[in-house]
Amino acid sequence: MANIIDGKKIAAEVRAEIAAECAELKAKGVTPGLAVIIVGEDPASKVYVRNKKKGCEEVGFHSEVYELPEATTEEELLALVHKLNRDEAIHGILVQLPLPKHLNDEIIIQNIDPKKDVDAFHEINVGKIMIGNYDFLPCTPAGVMVLLEKSGIDVCGKECVVVGRSNIVGKPQAMLLLHANGTVTVCHSRTKDLAEVTRRADILVVAIGKADFVTGDMVKEGAVVIDVGMNRKVDGKLTGDVDFATVEPKASYITPVPGGVGPMTITMLLRNTLTAAKKTLK
Ligand code: GUN
Repeated sequence: MANIIDGKKIAAEVRAEIAAECAELKAKGVTPGLAVIIVGEDPASKVYVRNKKKGCEEVGFHSEVYELPEATTEEELLALVHKLNRDEAIHGILVQLPLPKHLNDEIIIQNIDPKKDVDAFHEINVGKIMIGNYDFLPCTPAGVMVLLEKSGIDVCGKECVVVGRSNIVGKPQAMLLLHANGTVTVCHSRTKDLAEVTRRADILVVAIGKADFVTGDMVKEGAVVIDVGMNRKVDGKLTGDVDFATVEPKASYITPVPGGVGPMTITMLLRNTLTAAKKTLK
């Protein structure tokens, strides 16, 4: 029987710390401000954006949500990003991805002021993470590291396997585990014998976007299993990338879906916004 890592509880603890720091900052005349831009009508993105706004309100931040029509041009979107770059009430800017097909994610992200890039997607911030001298960490991998830390799981010297190599999760996750002195392997769709690699993991992080993909036979007895997946099944229920029913009996620790990594992502976004706001004091 695995210990269930309660992401909701850990996120609430971290958010309470953020709220306290926000109050201190407000007393010094700075209210952390986050601007979120969403283009189009993607239903999942709309839910994420609503939750980001709610998260800001809960900790006392100022928030602005810009809902732009699907037909927004690159020029119009860049004009808004540049305006927010100059806005002193805004410390963090997040452009919700995916953008509609006619807009180029890369061009938009690279136009966000790196000091306000609370997603840590700008190439300057990605480079800083690589070196290990960073201001912001990408929200989901940072949330995973907090879950490990708060659960008393030491990464140092452990065999860490990351399944998935996206720029948002897999690649930065590997880097953060490496910074924590783990021995890190990254697997992906071309990995020859995936189960052979995942079975080596003391800490297994799965972020591939395939429902219930990792099964019990792919996991070592006593492994820590972190499920970044968020998939909706035909019956409407949420499920992760890990088959909880067969993996949980083998794992020492496991994150549930929902209620594991998910609540941490917005929490880390709030923390990055707070960091950006604090830096304006200096
Ligand atoms: N879409 C899904 N996850 C993310 C994220 O972490 N940041 C942004 N900007 N868009 C997303």
